[in-house]
Amino acid sequence: MLEIADLEVAFETRMGHVKVVSDFSLSVARGECVGIVGESGAGKTQALLAVMGLLPRGARVSGSARLQGEELLGRGAGALDEFRGARIAMIFQDPLTALTPHMRVGDQIAEVLVRHRRLSWSAGRERALELLRAVHIADAERRLRQYPHELSGGMRQRVMIAMALACEPDVLIADEPTTALDVTVQAQILALLAELKRTRGMSLVLVTHDLGVIAGLADRVAVMYAGRLVEQGTARAVLKAPRHPYTRALLDSMPRLDVPSSEPLRAIRGQPPDPRALPAGCAFHPRCDLAADLCRSARPRLRPTGDGMVACHRPLGAAAGEEGPTS
Ligand SMILES: Nc1ncnc2c1ncn2[C@@H]1O[C@H](COP(=O)(O)OP(=O)(O)OP(=O)(O)O)[C@@H](O)[C@H]1O
Ligand code: SF4
Ligand SMILES: [Mg+2]
Repeated sequence: MLEIADLEVAFETRMGHVKVVSDFSLSVARGECVGIVGESGAGKTQALLAVMGLLPRGARVSGSARLQGEELLGRGAGALDEFRGARIAMIFQDPLTALTPHMRVGDQIAEVLVRHRRLSWSAGRERALELLRAVHIADAERRLRQYPHELSGGMRQRVMIAMALACEPDVLIADEPTTALDVTVQAQILALLAELKRTRGMSLVLVTHDLGVIAGLADRVAVMYAGRLVEQGTARAVLKAPRHPYTRALLDSMPRLDVPSSEPLRAIRGQPPDPRALPAGCAFHPRCDLAADLCRSARPRLRPTGDGMVACHRPLGAAAGEEGPTS
């Protein structure tokens, strides 16, 4: 459904050319949910904004992102608009960034349909009402006529999802869609996404800091560190037996609602690196307990392991002496 290959994102800054995403390749099948995890600054949002053509001017993007075989990168804004909203949509952590403050929410949803589906305004408003009901907004008729600031955070998030769903996209990209919400509302929004995936066969790319969400919703997981994918595999395998030391550390540092544990959470020592000054070799080496000489000089390439991929010279669970290729 969505095939991202060799994606690279760089910014021209006063400090020069800064690469924030490198060699990022990911494929998402129809009806599949791929979770993306990684610490703040890993490049998750920039990679996804690049796919959506939403990066600011000054960003340099290369590589490829195909939606059912059709290239999304390098299109002009007009041509991309055909896809955006209609076939691939994105929702954000803060719904206010996506909603227009001075427009009633019903009209905002209707506008998407008027523009992309050439519906009349009255048909668009009718459909907006159905969509608000589909995302389980109570008292939808009244909400339709309200402005974003009159709604709670959870309701705004549902409105943004309704808007993203208006044209029934094949792929929904959700960048930490529930981080700003309280726990009960989080659970409701996630249940809604799971329902949409199941009933509409929608593919879902979900950035989250919550392993319970990964365990509950994701079929596969991709782990990013310093702009690169360092591990990917089925959610079940990665959560149970991560191969990359960073994934292991990340799992130990994240709360898991699905598995009650008496073990205290352990923060990952040190800080993620500044993309302007990445360590040589494996970018994780200054923080890795397993780092060896090779790790400090040669960058490990992503290579297949079982049903996944890992970029590490000394992956966990590997036979002694099994070291990966370098690049
Ligand atoms: N306009 C910009 N110019 C230069 N660097 C930028 C720009 N926007 C983002 N970056 C840098 O890109 C890197 C990746 O940022 P990104 O927002 O993708 O991280 P993230 O993984 O989404 O983190 P978080 O979990 O905090 O959302 C960061 O180091 C950030 O400082
Ligand atoms: S390549 Fe070396 S430093 Fe990097 S994660 Fe693997 S063992 Fe640690
Ligand atoms: Mg982000």
